[in-house]
Amino acid sequence: DGDVYKYYTDGEWRKSPSGKSVSVINPTTRKPQYKVQACTQEEVNKVMESAKAAQKSWARTPLWKRAELLHKAAAILKEHKAPIAECLVKEIAKPAKDAVTEVVRSGDLVSYTAEEGVRILGEGKFLLSDSFPGNNRSKYCLSSKIPLGVVLAIPPFNYPINLAVSKIAPALISGNSLVLKPPTQGAVSALHMVHCFHLAGFPKGLISCVTGKGSEIGDFLTMHPGVNCISFTGGDTGIAISKKSGMIPLQMELGGKDACIVLEDADLDLAAANIVKGGFSYSGQRCTAVKVVLVMESVADALVEKVKAKVARLTVGPPEEDCDITPVVSESSANFIEGLVMDAKEKRATFCQEFQREGNLIWPLLLDHVRPDMRIAWEEPFGPVLPVIRINSVEEGIHHCNASNFGLQGCVFTRDINKAIMISDAMETGTVQINSAPARGPDHFPFQGLKDSGIGSQGITNSINMMTKIKSVVINLP
Ligand code: G3P
Repeated sequence: DGDVYKYYTDGEWRKSPSGKSVSVINPTTRKPQYKVQACTQEEVNKVMESAKAAQKSWARTPLWKRAELLHKAAAILKEHKAPIAECLVKEIAKPAKDAVTEVVRSGDLVSYTAEEGVRILGEGKFLLSDSFPGNNRSKYCLSSKIPLGVVLAIPPFNYPINLAVSKIAPALISGNSLVLKPPTQGAVSALHMVHCFHLAGFPKGLISCVTGKGSEIGDFLTMHPGVNCISFTGGDTGIAISKKSGMIPLQMELGGKDACIVLEDADLDLAAANIVKGGFSYSGQRCTAVKVVLVMESVADALVEKVKAKVARLTVGPPEEDCDITPVVSESSANFIEGLVMDAKEKRATFCQEFQREGNLIWPLLLDHVRPDMRIAWEEPFGPVLPVIRINSVEEGIHHCNASNFGLQGCVFTRDINKAIMISDAMETGTVQINSAPARGPDHFPFQGLKDSGIGSQGITNSINMMTKIKSVVINLP
C-alpha cells in the first residue's frame, strides 16, 4: 500500500511484513490524515540488532566527525522546515507559525549539542593516587566518558520534533545508536525529521524509527534487553516504564501542574500576560503550561479582569490559520477536559467565559474561585482551561504547590527579590521562574521534574552526561 509511510531501519525505508498500519487522525477534521506502519515485535528485534552492530563502529568514529554529521543534519532539518511544519499542523494541530518555530529550534538544538559534545566529551580527567591517605604517587587514573550503547527515545505528541532531537542529538554525539518510537500523532513529522538525518549520511543502522501501536510494541521496546538507556517524555506511561525497565539509566519527563503564585506587589500586567501565554499557548498542551494560578485575594479581582481581557483576544480556530487556540490532540483528550470542566461546574467554580466546544476544539476558559475539592485544582487538563485559586497567604500558595504529586516547574510574580528567592526555595519543583511563565527553553538550560514529574535532568549538557558512563584506566607504576 503506497499510502502508508514506511518505517526506517538499517539506512532504508521499509514496509512492515504485518501488512498492518495505524492511522494518524487529524485533530481538526477528526478524519484519518496519514497512515504509518504497524511494526511487529519481530521487526523490533531486527532493529535492535542493527542498532547494536552500528553502535560499535560509531563509538570509534572520531568525535569531530560525529559533530560534523550532526551539524549537517541540523542544516538539512532547517531546510525542510516548511514540509515538516505542515505535517505538524495536520497531525497535532499546532498553530502554523509555532510549527515552523519548533523545527528551527530543533535544528539549533542539534548544532548546539554537537558543539557542546565536542567540548564535554573531548575532555577527560587525570587523578593521582597520593591525595588519598596511605597512598603514594604510584597510580595514575585516566577517566573519560564512553557511550552506553543503544538509546531508546520516546517523545510525546506535543513536540514530536523538538523532544525527539533533544534525545537523538545527545545520544549520537556521545557515540550511542538511537531507536526512536515517535508518538502516533506526530509520527509522520518524526519520519520526515529522520529523513533529514538520513540525508546527512549517518551510518546504516545508527538511527532507526519504528512506528506502531504502543499496545503491541510499547512494552516490548522498553523491556527489550538490547536497550541500554531510555529517554521518555510523556504522561503516566513513564511511571509504568520505570517500573518495568531493567537496570538501565532512565531519563523521564512526565506531567506537571505548574503553579503561578502572584503576590500583592506583583506587576499585574506582566503576570496577566505571562498567565495567558503560559496557560494557553498551544492550547495548554505543554508540560510546562501554567496549570493553576494562586493569587493573593487582595489583587485577585484586578488580576482576573486583566487575564479575562487578554483571553477575550485569543483567536480560536484551525491551526492552518495560525489561531492561538486550536483543536486539542484527540477526542478522548477533549472529553477528559470537558469532564474536568463539568466537575468544576457542579462544585460551583466561577466561569469567566461560557464553556464552548466543537469537536476537539475547546474555547479558552478561565475558572475563578476554584477550591481544592475540585479535580481541576490538582489534575492537568492538557487543554485551554485554567483554574484560579485565591489565597490569603504566601504559605497557602506554597502549600498548594507542594501538595501536588507533580513538581515540574512553578513561577512567582513579585517585585521583591528576597521574597521571590524564599518562595523559589520553598517550592518543590525542578525549576522556578521569577516573573515569567514556566518554560523548558532555552534548550540548553537544565530541565527536570521532582516527584511524579520525572527522573533525572534534561537540557543539552545534562543529557550528554546522562547518556554516557565514566570509564577509567589506571596506570600502576612499579
Ligand atoms: O510539554 C513538553 C515540555 O517540554 C514543554 O516545553 O518548551 O513548551 O516549555 P516548552
